[in-house]
Amino acid sequence: FHVPKAVNEPVKSYKPGSPEKDSVLAAYKAMWDSKIEVPLYIGSDEIKTGNTKNITAPHDHKHVVGTYHLAEKKHIDQAIENALASKDAWANLPWEQRAAIFLKAAELIAGPYRARINAATMIGQSKNIFQAEIDAACELIDFLRFNVEFMTQIYGDQPKSTSDMWNRVEYRPLEGFVYAITPFNFTAIAANLPASAAMMGNVVVWKPSDSQVFSAKVIIDVFKEAGVPDGVINVVFGDAAMISNTIFEHADFAGIHFTGSTHVFQDIWKTIGNNILKYKTYPRIVGETGGKDFIVAHPSANVKQVATGIARGAFEFQGQKCSAASRAYIPQSLWPAVKEQLITDVKSMKMGSPEDFGNFITAVIHEGSFDKLASYIDQAKNDADAEIIVGGNYDKSVGYFIEPTVIVTTNPKYKTMETELFGPVMTIFVYEDAKWAETLKLVDETSPYALTGAVFSQDRYAIAEATEALKNAAGNFYINDKPTGAVVGMQPFGGARASGTNDKAGSAMNLLRWASARTIKETF
Ligand code: ALA
Repeated sequence: FHVPKAVNEPVKSYKPGSPEKDSVLAAYKAMWDSKIEVPLYIGSDEIKTGNTKNITAPHDHKHVVGTYHLAEKKHIDQAIENALASKDAWANLPWEQRAAIFLKAAELIAGPYRARINAATMIGQSKNIFQAEIDAACELIDFLRFNVEFMTQIYGDQPKSTSDMWNRVEYRPLEGFVYAITPFNFTAIAANLPASAAMMGNVVVWKPSDSQVFSAKVIIDVFKEAGVPDGVINVVFGDAAMISNTIFEHADFAGIHFTGSTHVFQDIWKTIGNNILKYKTYPRIVGETGGKDFIVAHPSANVKQVATGIARGAFEFQGQKCSAASRAYIPQSLWPAVKEQLITDVKSMKMGSPEDFGNFITAVIHEGSFDKLASYIDQAKNDADAEIIVGGNYDKSVGYFIEPTVIVTTNPKYKTMETELFGPVMTIFVYEDAKWAETLKLVDETSPYALTGAVFSQDRYAIAEATEALKNAAGNFYINDKPTGAVVGMQPFGGARASGTNDKAGSAMNLLRWASARTIKETF
Protein backbone atom coordinates (compact mmCIF):
# COMPACT_ATOMS: atom_id res chain seq x y z
CA PHE A 1 0.00 0.00 0.00
CA HIS A 2 1.26 3.43 -0.83
CA VAL A 3 0.01 5.82 1.80
CA PRO A 4 1.86 8.74 3.33
CA LYS A 5 4.01 7.52 6.25
CA ALA A 6 2.49 9.00 9.41
CA VAL A 7 4.60 11.64 11.13
CA ASN A 8 3.84 13.31 14.44
CA GLU A 9 2.79 16.91 14.01
CA PRO A 10 5.49 19.23 15.43
CA VAL A 11 4.37 21.32 18.40
CA LYS A 12 4.50 25.06 17.67
CA SER A 13 6.16 27.35 20.23
CA TYR A 14 3.72 30.29 20.59
CA LYS A 15 6.67 32.46 21.62
CA PRO A 16 6.03 36.19 21.93
CA GLY A 17 6.02 37.70 18.44
CA SER A 18 5.55 34.34 16.69
CA PRO A 19 2.98 34.26 13.85
CA GLU A 20 1.15 31.37 15.53
CA LYS A 21 0.70 33.41 18.71
CA ASP A 22 -0.76 36.33 16.77
CA SER A 23 -3.12 34.12 14.80
CA VAL A 24 -4.44 32.17 17.78
CA LEU A 25 -5.04 35.38 19.73
CA ALA A 26 -6.88 36.86 16.75
CA ALA A 27 -9.03 33.72 16.56
CA TYR A 28 -9.62 33.85 20.32
CA LYS A 29 -10.84 37.46 20.10
CA ALA A 30 -13.07 36.76 17.12
CA MET A 31 -14.61 33.68 18.76
CA TRP A 32 -15.04 35.30 22.17
CA ASP A 33 -17.87 37.46 20.87
CA SER A 34 -19.04 35.19 18.08
CA LYS A 35 -22.27 34.06 19.78
CA ILE A 36 -22.29 30.93 17.62
CA GLU A 37 -25.35 28.74 17.51
CA VAL A 38 -24.64 25.02 17.26
CA PRO A 39 -27.44 22.86 15.79
CA LEU A 40 -27.76 19.09 15.75
CA TYR A 41 -26.18 17.53 12.64
CA ILE A 42 -28.38 14.72 11.41
CA GLY A 43 -27.93 13.43 7.88
CA SER A 44 -27.78 16.52 5.70
CA ASP A 45 -29.90 18.53 8.16
CA GLU A 46 -28.77 21.09 10.68
CA ILE A 47 -31.58 21.02 13.22
CA LYS A 48 -32.35 23.87 15.57
CA THR A 49 -34.73 22.44 18.12
CA GLY A 50 -35.28 25.75 19.87
CA ASN A 51 -34.46 24.20 23.22
CA THR A 52 -31.00 25.63 23.87
CA LYS A 53 -28.29 25.92 26.48
CA ASN A 54 -25.54 28.52 26.73
CA ILE A 55 -21.89 27.82 26.02
CA THR A 56 -19.77 29.74 28.52
CA ALA A 57 -16.05 29.96 29.24
CA PRO A 58 -15.03 28.25 32.51
CA HIS A 59 -12.61 31.11 33.29
CA ASP A 60 -15.36 33.72 32.81
CA HIS A 61 -18.55 31.80 33.40
CA LYS A 62 -20.96 34.70 33.01
CA HIS A 63 -19.76 35.36 29.47
CA VAL A 64 -21.88 33.56 26.89
CA VAL A 65 -19.90 32.64 23.77
CA GLY A 66 -22.68 30.74 22.06
CA THR A 67 -25.63 28.40 22.38
CA TYR A 68 -26.32 24.82 21.38
CA HIS A 69 -29.52 22.98 20.62
CA LEU A 70 -30.72 20.01 22.64
CA ALA A 71 -32.17 16.91 21.06
CA GLU A 72 -35.48 15.25 21.89
CA LYS A 73 -36.02 11.52 21.57
CA LYS A 74 -37.34 11.87 17.99
CA HIS A 75 -34.02 13.46 16.94
CA ILE A 76 -32.09 10.50 18.27
CA ASP A 77 -34.33 8.18 16.26
CA GLN A 78 -33.67 10.37 13.21
CA ALA A 79 -29.93 10.28 13.83
CA ILE A 80 -30.00 6.48 13.94
CA GLU A 81 -32.16 6.29 10.77
CA ASN A 82 -29.81 8.62 8.91
CA ALA A 83 -26.76 6.69 10.05
CA LEU A 84 -28.28 3.41 8.87
CA ALA A 85 -29.39 4.94 5.55
CA SER A 86 -25.81 6.06 4.89
CA LYS A 87 -24.29 2.77 5.92
CA ASP A 88 -23.98 0.74 2.73
CA ALA A 89 -22.55 3.50 0.56
CA TRP A 90 -19.97 4.34 3.22
CA ALA A 91 -19.04 0.74 3.95
CA ASN A 92 -18.66 -0.01 0.25
CA LEU A 93 -16.43 2.98 -0.43
CA PRO A 94 -12.87 1.72 -0.96
CA TRP A 95 -11.02 2.19 2.31
CA GLU A 96 -8.44 4.46 0.66
CA GLN A 97 -11.25 6.92 -0.08
CA ARG A 98 -12.27 6.95 3.59
CA ALA A 99 -8.64 7.32 4.63
CA ALA A 100 -8.11 10.23 2.25
CA ILE A 101 -11.04 12.14 3.78
CA PHE A 102 -9.53 11.89 7.25
CA LEU A 103 -6.00 12.68 6.05
CA LYS A 104 -7.47 15.82 4.53
CA ALA A 105 -9.13 16.60 7.90
CA ALA A 106 -5.71 16.26 9.58
CA GLU A 107 -4.17 18.69 7.11
CA LEU A 108 -7.02 21.18 7.56
CA ILE A 109 -6.32 21.21 11.29
CA ALA A 110 -2.56 21.43 10.75
CA GLY A 111 -3.13 24.48 8.54
CA PRO A 112 -6.21 26.68 8.16
CA TYR A 113 -8.17 25.45 11.21
CA ARG A 114 -5.30 25.28 13.69
CA ALA A 115 -5.85 28.69 15.27
CA ARG A 116 -9.60 28.17 15.44
CA ILE A 117 -9.52 24.75 17.07
CA ASN A 118 -6.91 25.89 19.58
CA ALA A 119 -8.83 29.07 20.40
CA ALA A 120 -12.09 27.11 20.77
CA THR A 121 -10.36 24.71 23.18
CA MET A 122 -8.88 27.63 25.14
CA ILE A 123 -12.26 29.33 25.45
CA GLY A 124 -14.64 26.41 25.91
CA GLN A 125 -12.40 24.10 27.94
CA SER A 126 -10.01 26.68 29.47
CA LYS A 127 -6.82 25.07 28.25
CA ASN A 128 -3.73 27.22 28.15
CA ILE A 129 -2.31 27.53 24.63
CA PHE A 130 0.47 24.98 25.19
CA GLN A 131 -2.01 22.35 26.38
CA ALA A 132 -4.44 23.25 23.59
CA GLU A 133 -1.73 22.94 20.93
CA ILE A 134 -0.64 19.51 22.16
CA ASP A 135 -4.23 18.27 22.30
CA ALA A 136 -6.49 20.01 19.79
CA ALA A 137 -3.85 20.43 17.11
CA CYS A 138 -1.04 17.86 17.41
CA GLU A 139 -2.76 14.89 19.05
CA LEU A 140 -5.87 15.23 16.93
CA ILE A 141 -3.77 15.39 13.75
CA ASP A 142 -1.67 12.44 14.93
CA PHE A 143 -4.73 10.30 15.66
CA LEU A 144 -6.01 10.80 12.11
CA ARG A 145 -2.65 10.30 10.39
CA PHE A 146 -1.66 7.25 12.41
CA ASN A 147 -5.10 5.68 12.14
CA VAL A 148 -4.58 5.65 8.38
CA GLU A 149 -1.26 3.88 8.87
CA PHE A 150 -2.97 1.35 11.19
CA MET A 151 -5.67 0.84 8.53
CA THR A 152 -3.01 -0.17 6.03
CA GLN A 153 -1.60 -2.67 8.53
CA ILE A 154 -5.02 -4.09 9.33
CA TYR A 155 -6.28 -4.43 5.77
CA GLY A 156 -2.92 -5.80 4.64
CA ASP A 157 -2.83 -8.52 7.29
CA GLN A 158 -3.94 -11.58 5.31
CA PRO A 159 -3.77 -15.31 6.06
CA LYS A 160 -1.74 -17.91 4.17
CA SER A 161 -3.01 -19.33 0.89
CA THR A 162 -1.83 -22.13 -1.39
CA SER A 163 -1.81 -22.49 -5.19
CA ASP A 164 -5.27 -24.11 -5.22
CA MET A 165 -6.78 -22.30 -2.25
CA TRP A 166 -7.07 -18.58 -1.70
CA ASN A 167 -7.86 -17.47 1.88
CA ARG A 168 -8.70 -13.92 2.57
CA VAL A 169 -10.03 -11.84 5.44
CA GLU A 170 -12.36 -8.96 4.84
CA TYR A 171 -12.32 -6.40 7.65
CA ARG A 172 -15.91 -5.29 7.38
CA PRO A 173 -17.54 -2.61 9.54
CA LEU A 174 -19.83 -3.73 12.36
CA GLU A 175 -23.37 -4.66 11.36
CA GLY A 176 -25.29 -1.66 12.62
CA PHE A 177 -24.17 1.74 13.94
CA VAL A 178 -21.61 2.88 16.48
CA TYR A 179 -22.36 5.30 19.32
CA ALA A 180 -19.56 7.63 20.46
CA ILE A 181 -19.72 9.43 23.81
CA THR A 182 -16.83 11.84 24.24
CA PRO A 183 -15.37 13.83 27.15
CA PHE A 184 -14.58 17.52 27.61
CA ASN A 185 -10.95 17.15 28.52
CA PHE A 186 -9.35 16.26 25.19
CA THR A 187 -10.50 17.78 21.91
CA ALA A 188 -8.39 15.08 20.23
CA ILE A 189 -10.28 12.27 21.96
CA ALA A 190 -13.61 13.91 21.10
CA ALA A 191 -12.65 13.81 17.42
CA ASN A 192 -10.95 10.42 17.47
CA LEU A 193 -13.76 8.36 18.98
CA PRO A 194 -16.26 8.98 16.16
CA ALA A 195 -13.51 9.27 13.52
CA SER A 196 -11.76 5.97 14.25
CA ALA A 197 -15.03 4.02 14.02
CA ALA A 198 -15.99 5.90 10.84
CA MET A 199 -12.59 5.32 9.25
CA MET A 200 -13.17 1.58 9.56
CA GLY A 201 -16.37 2.00 7.56
CA ASN A 202 -18.89 2.43 10.37
CA VAL A 203 -21.65 5.01 10.66
CA VAL A 204 -21.82 6.89 13.93
CA VAL A 205 -24.07 8.78 16.30
CA TRP A 206 -21.81 11.09 18.27
CA LYS A 207 -22.72 12.78 21.55
CA PRO A 208 -20.05 15.29 22.60
CA SER A 209 -19.78 16.46 26.20
CA ASP A 210 -21.88 19.52 27.13
CA SER A 211 -18.58 21.11 28.17
CA GLN A 212 -16.86 20.64 24.79
CA VAL A 213 -19.48 21.93 22.35
CA PHE A 214 -17.39 24.95 21.33
CA SER A 215 -14.48 22.91 19.94
CA ALA A 216 -16.80 20.11 18.79
CA LYS A 217 -18.28 22.66 16.36
CA VAL A 218 -14.84 23.19 14.82
CA ILE A 219 -14.35 19.42 14.49
CA ILE A 220 -17.72 19.16 12.73
CA ASP A 221 -16.77 21.98 10.33
CA VAL A 222 -13.45 20.27 9.57
CA PHE A 223 -15.06 16.87 8.94
CA LYS A 224 -17.60 18.49 6.60
CA GLU A 225 -14.96 20.39 4.65
CA ALA A 226 -12.78 17.28 4.44
CA GLY A 227 -15.69 15.45 2.79
CA VAL A 228 -17.17 13.14 5.42
CA PRO A 229 -20.51 12.34 3.72
CA ASP A 230 -23.79 13.39 5.33
CA GLY A 231 -25.15 10.77 7.71
CA VAL A 232 -21.81 9.11 8.43
CA ILE A 233 -21.21 11.05 11.66
CA ASN A 234 -24.44 12.41 13.15
CA VAL A 235 -24.01 14.79 16.06
CA VAL A 236 -26.52 15.16 18.90
CA PHE A 237 -26.44 17.16 22.12
CA GLY A 238 -28.61 16.93 25.18
CA ASP A 239 -29.71 14.73 28.03
CA ALA A 240 -27.22 11.87 28.18
CA ALA A 241 -29.60 9.37 29.80
CA MET A 242 -32.33 9.98 27.22
CA ILE A 243 -29.90 9.78 24.30
CA SER A 244 -28.20 6.64 25.57
CA ASN A 245 -31.43 4.88 26.49
CA THR A 246 -32.88 5.54 23.04
CA ILE A 247 -29.76 4.18 21.38
CA PHE A 248 -29.47 1.13 23.62
CA GLU A 249 -33.05 0.12 22.73
CA HIS A 250 -32.20 -0.14 19.03
CA ALA A 251 -31.71 -3.51 17.34
CA ASP A 252 -28.93 -2.10 15.14
CA PHE A 253 -26.82 -0.74 18.00
CA ALA A 254 -23.48 -2.44 17.31
CA GLY A 255 -20.88 -0.77 19.49
CA ILE A 256 -19.99 2.03 21.86
CA HIS A 257 -16.78 4.05 21.83
CA PHE A 258 -16.70 5.82 25.18
CA THR A 259 -14.43 8.06 27.21
CA GLY A 260 -15.80 9.38 30.47
CA SER A 261 -16.45 8.48 34.06
CA THR A 262 -16.29 4.98 35.49
CA HIS A 263 -19.80 4.90 36.96
CA VAL A 264 -21.42 6.07 33.71
CA PHE A 265 -19.55 3.35 31.81
CA GLN A 266 -20.60 0.72 34.32
CA ASP A 267 -24.25 1.82 33.99
CA ILE A 268 -23.94 1.67 30.20
CA TRP A 269 -22.52 -1.84 30.40
CA LYS A 270 -25.44 -2.96 32.62
CA THR A 271 -28.03 -1.43 30.27
CA ILE A 272 -26.46 -3.10 27.24
CA GLY A 273 -26.43 -6.39 29.16
CA ASN A 274 -30.09 -6.05 30.05
CA ASN A 275 -30.97 -5.33 26.42
CA ILE A 276 -28.73 -7.99 24.89
CA LEU A 277 -31.58 -10.01 23.38
CA LYS A 278 -32.73 -6.97 21.40
CA TYR A 279 -29.58 -6.70 19.30
CA LYS A 280 -28.71 -8.35 16.00
CA THR A 281 -25.11 -8.71 17.08
CA TYR A 282 -23.14 -8.53 20.33
CA PRO A 283 -22.21 -4.85 20.65
CA ARG A 284 -18.55 -3.93 20.99
CA ILE A 285 -17.99 -2.13 24.27
CA VAL A 286 -14.87 0.02 24.25
CA GLY A 287 -14.31 2.47 27.08
CA GLU A 288 -11.66 4.54 28.71
CA THR A 289 -12.76 5.69 32.13
CA GLY A 290 -11.19 6.97 35.34
CA GLY A 291 -7.77 6.94 36.90
CA LYS A 292 -6.01 7.47 40.22
CA ASP A 293 -2.62 7.72 38.67
CA PHE A 294 0.48 7.33 40.81
CA ILE A 295 4.06 8.45 41.11
CA VAL A 296 6.33 6.31 43.28
CA ALA A 297 9.88 7.46 43.96
CA HIS A 298 12.65 5.12 45.12
CA PRO A 299 15.35 6.48 47.49
CA SER A 300 17.72 6.45 44.50
CA ALA A 301 15.52 8.86 42.51
CA ASN A 302 16.66 12.22 41.18
CA VAL A 303 14.94 14.87 43.32
CA LYS A 304 14.47 17.43 40.57
CA GLN A 305 12.98 14.81 38.24
CA VAL A 306 10.53 13.71 40.95
CA ALA A 307 9.42 17.24 41.82
CA THR A 308 8.97 18.19 38.15
CA GLY A 309 7.16 14.92 37.49
CA ILE A 310 4.69 15.67 40.28
CA ALA A 311 4.18 19.32 39.37
CA ARG A 312 3.67 18.74 35.66
CA GLY A 313 1.98 15.35 35.97
CA ALA A 314 -0.53 16.66 38.51
CA PHE A 315 -1.20 20.22 37.40
CA GLU A 316 -0.99 20.50 33.62
CA PHE A 317 -4.50 21.26 32.38
CA GLN A 318 -5.57 21.70 36.03
CA GLY A 319 -5.20 17.96 36.59
CA GLN A 320 -8.18 17.27 34.33
CA LYS A 321 -6.58 14.38 32.50
CA CYS A 322 -7.53 10.79 33.10
CA SER A 323 -3.76 10.27 33.15
CA ALA A 324 -2.97 13.04 35.66
CA ALA A 325 -0.79 12.09 38.64
CA SER A 326 -2.92 12.43 41.75
CA ARG A 327 -1.14 10.36 44.41
CA ALA A 328 2.57 10.11 45.11
CA TYR A 329 4.74 8.00 47.39
CA ILE A 330 8.02 9.64 48.38
CA PRO A 331 10.75 8.15 50.62
CA GLN A 332 11.55 10.00 53.85
CA SER A 333 15.17 10.55 52.86
CA LEU A 334 14.16 12.51 49.74
CA TRP A 335 11.10 14.25 51.10
CA PRO A 336 12.65 17.50 52.46
CA ALA A 337 14.37 18.23 49.12
CA VAL A 338 11.37 17.11 47.01
CA LYS A 339 9.04 19.22 49.15
CA GLU A 340 11.16 22.34 48.80
CA GLN A 341 11.48 21.98 45.03
CA LEU A 342 7.80 21.12 44.59
CA ILE A 343 6.62 24.14 46.58
CA THR A 344 8.92 26.37 44.50
CA ASP A 345 7.62 24.84 41.24
CA VAL A 346 3.96 25.11 42.23
CA LYS A 347 4.28 28.67 43.52
CA SER A 348 5.73 29.69 40.16
CA MET A 349 2.57 28.53 38.34
CA LYS A 350 0.59 31.66 37.49
CA MET A 351 -3.19 31.31 37.47
CA GLY A 352 -5.68 33.22 35.28
CA SER A 353 -7.31 33.42 31.86
CA PRO A 354 -5.78 31.35 29.01
CA GLU A 355 -5.74 34.47 26.87
CA ASP A 356 -2.64 35.52 28.84
CA PHE A 357 0.01 33.03 27.73
CA GLY A 358 1.91 33.52 31.01
CA ASN A 359 -0.85 31.72 32.91
CA PHE A 360 -0.09 28.06 33.44
CA ILE A 361 -3.19 27.28 35.51
CA THR A 362 -6.64 28.31 34.31
CA ALA A 363 -10.12 27.36 35.50
CA VAL A 364 -11.59 23.92 36.08
CA ILE A 365 -14.39 22.92 33.76
CA HIS A 366 -17.60 23.73 35.63
CA GLU A 367 -19.24 24.54 38.93
CA GLY A 368 -19.89 20.91 39.84
CA SER A 369 -16.21 20.12 39.51
CA PHE A 370 -15.23 23.29 41.38
CA ASP A 371 -17.56 22.55 44.30
CA LYS A 372 -16.36 18.96 44.60
CA LEU A 373 -12.70 19.97 44.62
CA ALA A 374 -13.31 22.80 47.09
CA SER A 375 -15.05 20.40 49.45
CA TYR A 376 -12.12 17.94 49.42
CA ILE A 377 -9.72 20.84 50.04
CA ASP A 378 -11.86 22.03 52.98
CA GLN A 379 -11.91 18.54 54.46
CA ALA A 380 -8.12 18.32 54.18
CA LYS A 381 -7.85 21.61 56.07
CA ASN A 382 -9.80 20.04 58.94
CA ASP A 383 -8.55 16.45 58.94
CA ALA A 384 -5.86 15.59 61.48
CA ASP A 385 -4.15 13.16 59.10
CA ALA A 386 -3.83 15.70 56.26
CA GLU A 387 -1.92 18.92 55.72
CA ILE A 388 -1.95 21.30 52.76
CA ILE A 389 1.63 22.36 52.01
CA VAL A 390 0.93 24.60 49.02
CA GLY A 391 -2.25 25.99 47.43
CA GLY A 392 -5.63 25.40 49.05
CA ASN A 393 -7.37 28.60 47.91
CA TYR A 394 -10.24 28.78 45.44
CA ASP A 395 -12.57 31.40 43.98
CA LYS A 396 -15.52 31.04 41.61
CA SER A 397 -16.64 34.66 41.45
CA VAL A 398 -15.44 35.12 37.84
CA GLY A 399 -14.17 31.69 36.75
CA TYR A 400 -13.85 28.31 38.43
CA PHE A 401 -10.35 28.84 39.79
CA ILE A 402 -8.75 26.32 42.12
CA GLU A 403 -5.13 26.80 43.12
CA PRO A 404 -2.84 23.86 42.46
CA THR A 405 -2.95 22.14 45.83
CA VAL A 406 -0.65 19.59 47.44
CA ILE A 407 -1.94 17.61 50.42
CA VAL A 408 0.47 15.53 52.51
CA THR A 409 -1.11 12.72 54.48
CA THR A 410 0.12 10.35 57.16
CA ASN A 411 -2.59 7.88 56.14
CA PRO A 412 -1.81 5.95 52.93
CA LYS A 413 -5.53 5.21 52.54
CA TYR A 414 -6.59 8.85 53.04
CA LYS A 415 -9.66 9.61 50.89
CA THR A 416 -7.77 11.70 48.34
CA MET A 417 -5.22 8.88 47.92
CA GLU A 418 -8.07 6.64 46.75
CA THR A 419 -10.75 8.78 45.11
CA GLU A 420 -10.48 10.28 41.65
CA LEU A 421 -10.98 14.07 41.96
CA PHE A 422 -10.23 15.12 38.35
CA GLY A 423 -8.68 18.44 39.28
CA PRO A 424 -5.52 20.18 40.51
CA VAL A 425 -5.21 18.37 43.83
CA MET A 426 -2.26 16.03 44.49
CA THR A 427 -1.86 13.93 47.63
CA ILE A 428 1.49 12.67 48.88
CA PHE A 429 2.33 9.92 51.35
CA VAL A 430 5.86 9.85 52.75
CA TYR A 431 7.11 6.32 53.38
CA GLU A 432 10.04 4.92 55.37
CA ASP A 433 12.91 4.14 52.98
CA ALA A 434 13.17 0.55 54.22
CA LYS A 435 9.53 -0.09 53.22
CA TRP A 436 10.00 0.02 49.42
CA ALA A 437 8.46 -3.40 48.78
CA GLU A 438 5.47 -2.70 51.06
CA THR A 439 5.01 0.65 49.34
CA LEU A 440 4.81 -0.96 45.91
CA LYS A 441 2.11 -3.27 47.28
CA LEU A 442 0.28 -0.24 48.67
CA VAL A 443 0.43 1.51 45.30
CA ASP A 444 -1.06 -1.56 43.64
CA GLU A 445 -3.84 -2.06 46.17
CA THR A 446 -4.94 1.47 47.07
CA SER A 447 -7.17 2.32 44.11
CA PRO A 448 -9.47 0.31 41.83
CA TYR A 449 -8.00 2.00 38.75
CA ALA A 450 -5.11 1.02 36.50
CA LEU A 451 -4.56 3.76 33.95
CA THR A 452 -1.15 5.42 34.31
CA GLY A 453 1.69 5.45 36.80
CA ALA A 454 5.35 6.35 37.10
CA VAL A 455 8.39 5.11 38.97
CA PHE A 456 11.38 7.36 39.58
CA SER A 457 14.69 5.65 40.38
CA GLN A 458 18.33 5.56 39.30
CA ASP A 459 18.62 1.94 40.48
CA ARG A 460 17.93 -0.72 37.83
CA TYR A 461 16.97 -3.35 40.43
CA ALA A 462 14.39 -0.99 41.93
CA ILE A 463 13.03 -0.14 38.48
CA ALA A 464 12.69 -3.86 37.73
CA GLU A 465 10.95 -4.48 41.08
CA ALA A 466 8.46 -1.67 40.47
CA THR A 467 7.82 -2.76 36.88
CA GLU A 468 6.97 -6.26 38.08
CA ALA A 469 5.01 -5.34 41.24
CA LEU A 470 2.90 -2.80 39.34
CA LYS A 471 2.34 -4.84 36.15
CA ASN A 472 -1.44 -4.69 36.51
CA ALA A 473 -1.61 -1.26 38.16
CA ALA A 474 -1.17 0.87 35.03
CA GLY A 475 -1.86 0.40 31.33
CA ASN A 476 0.71 3.12 30.66
CA PHE A 477 3.78 2.85 32.89
CA TYR A 478 6.50 5.50 32.89
CA ILE A 479 10.08 5.19 34.11
CA ASN A 480 11.62 8.51 35.20
CA ASP A 481 8.92 10.60 33.57
CA LYS A 482 5.52 12.06 34.50
CA PRO A 483 2.60 9.70 33.78
CA THR A 484 0.86 12.00 31.28
CA GLY A 485 1.29 13.07 27.69
CA ALA A 486 1.19 9.81 25.74
CA VAL A 487 1.98 10.52 22.09
CA VAL A 488 0.09 8.76 19.30
CA GLY A 489 2.33 6.33 17.45
CA MET A 490 4.73 6.22 20.40
CA GLN A 491 2.80 5.27 23.55
CA PRO A 492 -0.52 3.54 22.75
CA PHE A 493 -2.84 4.70 25.54
CA GLY A 494 -5.30 2.98 27.85
CA GLY A 495 -5.75 1.08 31.09
CA ALA A 496 -7.57 -1.87 32.60
CA ARG A 497 -9.32 -2.58 35.95
CA ALA A 498 -11.77 0.31 36.61
CA SER A 499 -9.96 2.44 34.02
CA GLY A 500 -11.36 0.81 30.93
CA THR A 501 -11.24 -1.97 28.39
CA ASN A 502 -7.61 -1.17 27.50
CA ASP A 503 -8.18 -1.04 23.76
CA LYS A 504 -5.26 1.38 23.42
CA ALA A 505 -6.22 4.64 21.74
CA GLY A 506 -3.77 5.46 18.98
CA SER A 507 -3.12 1.87 17.92
CA ALA A 508 -4.31 -0.87 15.58
CA MET A 509 -5.73 -2.63 18.67
CA ASN A 510 -8.37 0.09 18.92
CA LEU A 511 -9.20 0.21 15.22
CA LEU A 512 -9.68 -3.55 15.14
CA ARG A 513 -12.59 -3.20 17.56
CA TRP A 514 -14.45 -1.38 14.79
CA ALA A 515 -14.06 -4.22 12.30
CA SER A 516 -16.02 -7.43 12.02
CA ALA A 517 -13.97 -9.83 9.96
CA ARG A 518 -15.26 -12.25 7.37
CA THR A 519 -12.93 -15.07 6.38
CA ILE A 520 -13.36 -16.30 2.83
CA LYS A 521 -11.89 -19.58 1.58
CA GLU A 522 -11.98 -20.17 -2.14
CA THR A 523 -10.75 -23.31 -3.84
CA PHE A 524 -9.87 -23.70 -7.50
N1 ALA B 1 -3.38 10.56 26.26
C1 ALA B 1 -3.48 11.49 27.34
C2 ALA B 1 -2.26 11.46 28.20
O1 ALA B 1 -1.51 10.53 28.11
C3 ALA B 1 -4.69 11.25 28.12
O2 ALA B 1 -2.09 12.33 29.01
